[in-house]
Amino acid sequence: MIVGIPKEIKNNENRVGMTPAGVNELVKHGHTVYVQKGAGENSGFPDSSYERVGAKILATIEDVYAISEMIVKVKEPIAPEYPLIRKGQLLFTYFHFASDRRLTEAMMSSGATCLAYETVELKDHSLPLLIPMSEVAGRMATQEGARFLERPQGGKGKLMGGVPGVKPAKVLVIGAGVVGYSAARIAAGMGADVTITDLSLSRLRHIDEIKPANIKTLYSSEFNIRAELPTTDLVVGAVLIPGAKAPHLITRDMLSTMEKGSVLVDVAIDQGGCFETSRPTTHSEPVYEVDGIIHYCVANIPGAVSATSTLALTNATLPYVVQLANKGWQKACSEDEALYKGLNIVDGKIIYPAVAEAFGLPCETI
Ligand SMILES: NC(=O)c1ccc[n+]([C@@H]2O[C@H](COP(=O)([O-])OP(=O)(O)OC[C@H]3O[C@@H](n4cnc5c(N)ncnc54)[C@H](O)[C@@H]3O)[C@@H](O)[C@H]2O)c1
Repeated sequence: MIVGIPKEIKNNENRVGMTPAGVNELVKHGHTVYVQKGAGENSGFPDSSYERVGAKILATIEDVYAISEMIVKVKEPIAPEYPLIRKGQLLFTYFHFASDRRLTEAMMSSGATCLAYETVELKDHSLPLLIPMSEVAGRMATQEGARFLERPQGGKGKLMGGVPGVKPAKVLVIGAGVVGYSAARIAAGMGADVTITDLSLSRLRHIDEIKPANIKTLYSSEFNIRAELPTTDLVVGAVLIPGAKAPHLITRDMLSTMEKGSVLVDVAIDQGGCFETSRPTTHSEPVYEVDGIIHYCVANIPGAVSATSTLALTNATLPYVVQLANKGWQKACSEDEALYKGLNIVDGKIIYPAVAEAFGLPCETI
């Protein structure tokens, strides 16, 4: 198969869809890999490191899309990429369709097949291609939240861990999945007073068994979240209903109950955001303020720590990329249920129910 690795063009997206180790694996299996010039540079992989293992370097993104049967990348295609995508082409990347009607319609009219990393799902309902980036984003959410609590960054000027004689910051993490627990652990490690909520009691039970002493668990409800906000300094939003738009768990009226200079980090922004006042931001302008509350809503948080993230992501995606290249998507997806669940759009038709539901469009079967 001819596999193409374009350079990411989303703001400050420094990751790349495949490392030289991945190219080496594909070439060993007899495939041809085209890498766009400079695609891996910001993750620490110069063109020469790809060429050494047999990749061919192409000058432009247009060249890569034009020649490739399968495109492997990181973030969803953005508007300038839409016209490059061809009927019959396979795209293997994050899409997060439910939060983006324009992208969904563009992919439908392209006639391409879209396999979304975020909905590849194992039998135990875990999401193996979301987990590594969630591990990164959760850790970063706390790191960034702590930064924006600093006064020069617009925050209330509170130190996460406090000091002897001064209480630590209070952190509320909504959603106790991979992002949420990663965020909570880092916050706890910084010495903050952390509360983590979820709807899943079994998840909270598990966390209760493994957590450090400064993390408390709380059942997620509007009542409980409202009660926490007046004394919370940093909120990390980390909920997920797979494939669907995130519910709004903090509404605008709730902001007035918080102290000015408190920080909301909405990691679920890639699924539309779990705070009513969230809108996507970028690494170059990561925050904005609503009613005195700092909002950090970067949709590609792991892109900032690309050297770590590219390795973490491609460790997880490579086995699937090899299956897809060796067998073609039809055979690979019919033999691997987890991969089948990644199919969101096939030949221009939506086949993933939550995406069809999000836009009131028909869900087809294949
Ligand atoms: N912005 C970024 O750069 C970035 C990076 C990685 C992941 N994400 C996003 O972060 C979100 C969380 O991902 P994850 O891997 O932790 O998912 P996950 O499935 O591991 O965890 C989600 C948790 O949310 C819980 N939940 C659902 N509804 C809830 C509610 N009303 N209240 C409290 N908890 C609720 C679920 O029970 C689950 O435990 C997703 O939207 C994912 O796409 C964003």
